[in-house]
Amino acid sequence: MLALITGGTNGIGLAIAEEFLQNGHDVLLVSRSEGHLEELKKKYPTRLISFISHDLTKEEECYQLLKETEQRDISFFIANAGFGDISHIDQSDIKKDVDMVKLNDISTLILGKTFLNRFIKKGHGRVMFVSSAASFAPAPYMSCYYASKVFVYYLVHGYHRELKHIKSKVTISALCPGPVKTDFEKRANVKFNIFARSPSFVAKKAYKGLLKGRLTIVPGFEMKCLHFLSHLFPKRLITVFLKSSATIVTDLK
Ligand SMILES: NC(=O)c1ccc[n+]([C@@H]2O[C@H](COP(=O)([O-])OP(=O)(O)OC[C@H]3O[C@@H](n4cnc5c(N)ncnc54)[C@H](OP(=O)(O)O)[C@@H]3O)[C@@H](O)[C@H]2O)c1
Repeated sequence: MLALITGGTNGIGLAIAEEFLQNGHDVLLVSRSEGHLEELKKKYPTRLISFISHDLTKEEECYQLLKETEQRDISFFIANAGFGDISHIDQSDIKKDVDMVKLNDISTLILGKTFLNRFIKKGHGRVMFVSSAASFAPAPYMSCYYASKVFVYYLVHGYHRELKHIKSKVTISALCPGPVKTDFEKRANVKFNIFARSPSFVAKKAYKGLLKGRLTIVPGFEMKCLHFLSHLFPKRLITVFLKSSATIVTDLK
């Protein structure tokens, strides 16, 4: 079966692609650059690994991707491409914030909703949106990123209930990892002050949860605890703790 993974050439997306390949599936990866594509092809020479280049911050490229995949028999759709940013409110680049919302939210909405509808029509298929533990509560200095991940988390929960109402076999899951060792930190200008998991650890939990049709997948005991606690404490209080969970790299210089 074929899995389409956005941002599948690096970090968490690449690790999820490996999980699919190890479990006998083929993958179609979408990102701006090829990243680790050649290494992946060398590692899994017998599997079908395709790549389409798109900048998914651009709406028209999302629609173009939908056109290009219309005739493909895709069984899994993983909306993973995304990035974050940390900065002081008076120093943040508004254009970076807007691009973040376009990639993390708008592209997930356009692609995710269309693939859900394609799968509903076919009567099967599994969808996963990569949200984050950032969706559990707001955080200062990364306000836009955290808000973008709540959007994704709520979309999944709403669609999940709709799928139940129409008794569809199609499933949707939200993957909510805490910090993961990828290029995310570099692009976001952030340094995590809490333990970061490996992409392969997260990908294994993601794949298993996806196949079980789990609504929310939270890899790691510490993040499960945080998820639980986020329901108990007022959001205003949690922002105090989250202030020290990450550092702005330029503040260290
Ligand atoms: N790392 C963490 O701590 C962490 C924690 C929780 C959730 N997440 C979420 O996990 C997802 C993956 O992040 P990651 O940590 O794996 O980051 P990463 O290592 O930077 O990988 C991001 C992937 O997205 C692609 N991408 C970035 N901008 C794109 C664009 N405009 N159009 C198309 N593809 C684009 C990148 O390829 P190109 O640059 O070549 O386009 C790359 O393949 C994100 O949604 C992130 O918010 C990350």
